[in-house]
Amino acid sequence: MNIHWAWPLGFALVLLTSCTTGGGNAPSLLDPRGPAASRVAGLIWLLFAIAGVICLLVLLALLWALFRRHGQGENAARPFNENRVIVIFGVAIPALILFVVYGFSLATTAYLAAPPSNPRLTVNVVAHQWWWEVQYPEQQFATANEIHIPVGQSIQVKVTSDDVIHDFWVPQLNDKIDMFPGRTNTTWLQASEPGTYRGVCAEYCGAEHALMNFVVVAEPSAQFETWLTAQSQPALQPAAQGGDILRGYQAFIGSSCSYCHAVKGTDAAGKYGPDLTHFAGRETIAAGTLPNTRGNLAGWITNTQGIKPGNRMPAFPLDARSLQDLLAYLQSLT
Ligand code: CUA
Repeated sequence: MNIHWAWPLGFALVLLTSCTTGGGNAPSLLDPRGPAASRVAGLIWLLFAIAGVICLLVLLALLWALFRRHGQGENAARPFNENRVIVIFGVAIPALILFVVYGFSLATTAYLAAPPSNPRLTVNVVAHQWWWEVQYPEQQFATANEIHIPVGQSIQVKVTSDDVIHDFWVPQLNDKIDMFPGRTNTTWLQASEPGTYRGVCAEYCGAEHALMNFVVVAEPSAQFETWLTAQSQPALQPAAQGGDILRGYQAFIGSSCSYCHAVKGTDAAGKYGPDLTHFAGRETIAAGTLPNTRGNLAGWITNTQGIKPGNRMPAFPLDARSLQDLLAYLQSLT
């Protein structure tokens, strides 16, 4: 008899674990902070509720059948119309449920297709193995692995890829959207409250797929406009700074960093790696892999392959003095 209770018990355990996940550091799509993600979460809960009720009813029917047979014996079993049971429970009710679910799915898809209001601006995101190039075309600047948006306003996001297929996903803000080389897909972002939301690559794209993250910083309108204006400016002139910053800039150019990285307003105009014009203002380095601190930066420059094996940046074994100068220069790029 004990075996009969294993299924309901298992079901209860699954329910319990499903309801208690979503905490910790991982962004949860069940903790939405924007209208698009709220719709997706709503659909998930609807499907979960329907599946839960059906599962419960099936279990009750199973229990009823078990007790009926054991409790009342063979004589108690009344004949019933099997065809009618199959038509009602095997065809009619499932068809009705699927029809309702299909309707809700279509409505959600339609809602996700276009922003609820005119977008405040457009951001282009280009995926690379394994980082995110973020362009603000109207303001003519580029940044990396960090997207700033104004709270409560929608922005249009045009995504594409430079190499393989990636997928742009901020679980608390939007649905997933694939990024294909040679094709541009369009989505939108909107946050309903200020905060920093983690974004991930949601399509396996090679060795460092798991270390291809970014952040979306949603801030009040005035703060966002200040950020936008600051990002549009070129970097401070290293010659005017002098000292270790100037020497750091010379190390930056001399160590061929500038072949891959651009710093607007200087001779560095590389296009292969992230634009570093306002690098010091970013929260993370190496696409969300490490907090942007001086120590992490030193480790990254001298041992990038140890931190993110296979990434496209070679390690630069600089002498201690040049490294300190280079760090001073990079940290001056606010
Ligand atoms: Cu990019 Cu996975």
